[in-house]
Amino acid sequence: MATAMRIHTHDVSGTPAGDLAADVRAGLDRAGQKELPSKYLYDEVGSALFEVICLLPEYGLSRAGARLLRRHADEMIERLPSPVAVAELGSGSGTKTRWILEALSRRQPVTYYPIDISRTALSRCWQELGRIDSVSVVGFERAYLDGLLDVASRRNAGERLLVLFLGSTIGNFDRPAGEQFLREVRHILHPGDALLLSTDLEKSVSQLLLAYDDTAGVTAAFNRNLLARINRELGADFDLNCFRHEARWNEAERRIEMHLVSTRRQTIYIRGAALKVNFIEDETIWTESSHKYRCDEAEGMGERAGFRCDAQWVDAEWPFAQSLFLAE
Ligand code: AVJ
Repeated sequence: MATAMRIHTHDVSGTPAGDLAADVRAGLDRAGQKELPSKYLYDEVGSALFEVICLLPEYGLSRAGARLLRRHADEMIERLPSPVAVAELGSGSGTKTRWILEALSRRQPVTYYPIDISRTALSRCWQELGRIDSVSVVGFERAYLDGLLDVASRRNAGERLLVLFLGSTIGNFDRPAGEQFLREVRHILHPGDALLLSTDLEKSVSQLLLAYDDTAGVTAAFNRNLLARINRELGADFDLNCFRHEARWNEAERRIEMHLVSTRRQTIYIRGAALKVNFIEDETIWTESSHKYRCDEAEGMGERAGFRCDAQWVDAEWPFAQSLFLAE
């Protein structure tokens, strides 16, 4: 058993977590729909709020994903070649991954490579998973594809790779970009490697709107924290009382969108981005998309990206799918 997690950090120039000032400028200094990349929702406060979201009765998504892994991890593992190392895109909180690692470690010693731009997320993951017998954790503080390239080049001869992309994080991408991302993952993998992909499935609009606008206001706090973060890190003067959270269902794109709505006409100064931004009343900043899929859609996406869909597990309580894809 490892006693400390090794973390490989990004050693080339630039920060893997992105350039907040440049992205704020690109997203807010424009004539049309203002937007900010959803990855910036996950600073320390945002990540903690997201963990609370996962406990909310309205947000069944992460419980459904965890339930499928708890119930079916052994069946999933049986379908994989041996020996296999595990790479996870986004280290998450680690709770879902535990079921996979425990099932695998009953068969062989496992190396687990969480890949995340957040060092805090990697340490939490280590606290959660570092003590499982026969599992060693090697974290990569990198962007997903950069980290995966690194992991793939370090694997032992004859060792297969199982890539986990859980929690329906793929839903943050537009459909074409999601498929392109899977194609890039497939490109890094070799025949015999596998991908376990989570997708949240379509359900009633009222259920989805509640999941993204809960009565306790946690999701609203999660969304508005993005403005608080820009105040903290870029010395901006957003007044959080003048922006409200909104969750919308976009029927044409079949996705939930989170927006921050300016409740009045106002001007914001963002010192660290050397930027002045005007808002008219009801103008919004689009902060996140969560695409919802049909079951066969996830399968088609993976297959067009060059995988074969080997098996799929769907939760009955909260429509959600785990799809196991093989690279051939
Ligand atoms: C972590 C991206 C899967 O889209 O459901 C939860 C993030 N946003 N509530 C999602 C989120 C608002 C979540 N993902």
